Amino acid sequence: MLTRRDCLKYVTLAGAAITLQPRMLEAIESGDLIMRAIPSSGEKLPIVGLGSSATFSSLARSEDATRLRNVMRTLIEHGGAVFDTAPAYGASEEVAGKIIQELDAKKKIFWATKLNVAGRGRGAADPAAARAQLDRSFQRIGKDPIDLIQVHNLGDIPTQMGILKDLKAEGRVRYIGVTSTRTSRYSDLAKVMREEPIDFIGVDYAVDNRHSAEMILPLAQDLGIGVLIYIPFGRTRLWRRVSGRNVPAWAQEFGAHSWAQFFIKYIAAHPAVTAVTPATSKAENMLDNLGAAVGELPDEATRRRMVELVEALPSA
Ligand SMILES: NC(=O)c1ccc[n+]([C@@H]2O[C@H](COP(=O)([O-])OP(=O)(O)OC[C@H]3O[C@@H](n4cnc5c(N)ncnc54)[C@H](OP(=O)(O)O)[C@@H]3O)[C@@H](O)[C@H]2O)c1
Repeated sequence: MLTRRDCLKYVTLAGAAITLQPRMLEAIESGDLIMRAIPSSGEKLPIVGLGSSATFSSLARSEDATRLRNVMRTLIEHGGAVFDTAPAYGASEEVAGKIIQELDAKKKIFWATKLNVAGRGRGAADPAAARAQLDRSFQRIGKDPIDLIQVHNLGDIPTQMGILKDLKAEGRVRYIGVTSTRTSRYSDLAKVMREEPIDFIGVDYAVDNRHSAEMILPLAQDLGIGVLIYIPFGRTRLWRRVSGRNVPAWAQEFGAHSWAQFFIKYIAAHPAVTAVTPATSKAENMLDNLGAAVGELPDEATRRRMVELVEALPSA
């Protein structure tokens, strides 16, 4: 029988010691992560990526790029690729662009940014402002074409999606899409999904926030639209809910050794999901999150059990 000592291997990363099962570490180190195909092209992406609002953007503002460099290096060196950003996330796009250029890793990153010169009280998009924002994104990233650009939060779809369709026709962006993380706007999101030739959506989904699974995720499957999952931890909500509690032993059967892996594997098991992009400012958490892309994913019965467990906890 394996002892705990045999089972666990200590990894020191960016000054922090974390424990990972050897098989998991081996799989992460070899870049052997679960992949999903983008429906419109068949191109495969690792199922866990990195978001850049929340703590990532706070750190980007601090002018200390070392920690973020470690996070991005961890993503790339362990087989991850998808990086979700936006001009609206403070300094994230700019700082991450510099880091990726310094690491000479442009080709390894699937760069997903957004267009948002409209919406949330800003009214109609000024096409000149939209083009200027896109020019800045191209400069920051140093990648042309950019992998994915989405209209942020459904802002002025006729103007902004029109610009993205032109950009795609010019070969300057490989995939286009639209994002929304508000349940109240899901019917607008569904309309865009039905009417526009998009490759991706970005939408919220978590073990305790399953509204998108009712209509949006099945629709994405039907229409062959890829899905990036946002706010997989409810930002701080799920962390508060499980605070002080251990991951159940039965979760190890499908390879979830931490709460992050439990939360991400729940999401990744949905067949509509192309990639999950949790934000982090810590390299050890990046590695932990990538661990969710290793091994098994829970079946439907297990997913129901995961929901029951979380729903039984006091809400945050
Ligand atoms: N409308 C839109 O387009 C839209 C809206 C919302 C979000 N998004 C995208 O989705 C991404 C993810 O959503 P989010 O950033 O709002 O929230 P989130 O990913 O649900 O949660 C981020 C939080 O989880 C913590 N965390 C990450 N990994 C962890 C781990 N392994 N263990 C413990 N804590 C961990 C982070 O802190 P640490 O730094 O300490 O790890 C941070 O506080 C965003 O960054 C953004 O790229 C898009």
